[in-house]
Amino acid sequence: MEAGRKISQLIFPRVVALITTCSREGRANVASFSFLMPVSFNPKYVAFAIDPSRYSYSNLKENGEFVVNIPMEDMLEKVWICGSRSGRDTDKFSLAGLTTLQSVRVKPPRIAGCPVQLECVVELDRKFGDHHLIVGRVVEEHVETGDFTPLTHHSGSVFRKVGEALKVEA
Ligand SMILES: Cc1cc2nc3c(=O)[nH]c(=O)nc-3n(C[C@H](O)[C@H](O)[C@H](O)COP(=O)(O)O)c2cc1C
Repeated sequence: MEAGRKISQLIFPRVVALITTCSREGRANVASFSFLMPVSFNPKYVAFAIDPSRYSYSNLKENGEFVVNIPMEDMLEKVWICGSRSGRDTDKFSLAGLTTLQSVRVKPPRIAGCPVQLECVVELDRKFGDHHLIVGRVVEEHVETGDFTPLTHHSGSVFRKVGEALKVEA
């Protein structure tokens, strides 16, 4: 048995999110995340795993809110910028050319052009190994009608397009 491959190379593809957070003073940041999963239908809950060295994590500690924005395939370059630089010293919104929209219930902004935007409040932050699992309750959702094709992540700088739908006789 081959050992030593990263978990991200074993469980893929994973939908990518651009997650926004805010510092105590209200300075917003955005970063890319693919360790992301839905947790509950009703009420809606969403979880993601974050390395606590991320600037986004210190924002989560200062203001326990975040917005999950789901970008489409055409935002690949922006996703890469947001996932390869830290917001500690960079304004990634302007660097990546992202337009923000004010959220309704939380401080971190939404990202225009993302057809799914979920405003969340942190309800759990628990360390597992080298990441923290963050579970958030969705307090407001903004969802465009129609089909959309999210971008999926493999590992590192490798992404995948969503392929054709497969339907099973049920
Ligand atoms: C597509 C993609 C997915 C990523 N997924 C995660 C993730 O799920 N968890 C994590 O901690 N970092 C993830 N990263 C790395 C962070 O996005 C990266 O470290 C970023 O620079 C953190 O920014 P910040 O310091 O402004 O928070 C991912 C990067 C990319 C490009």
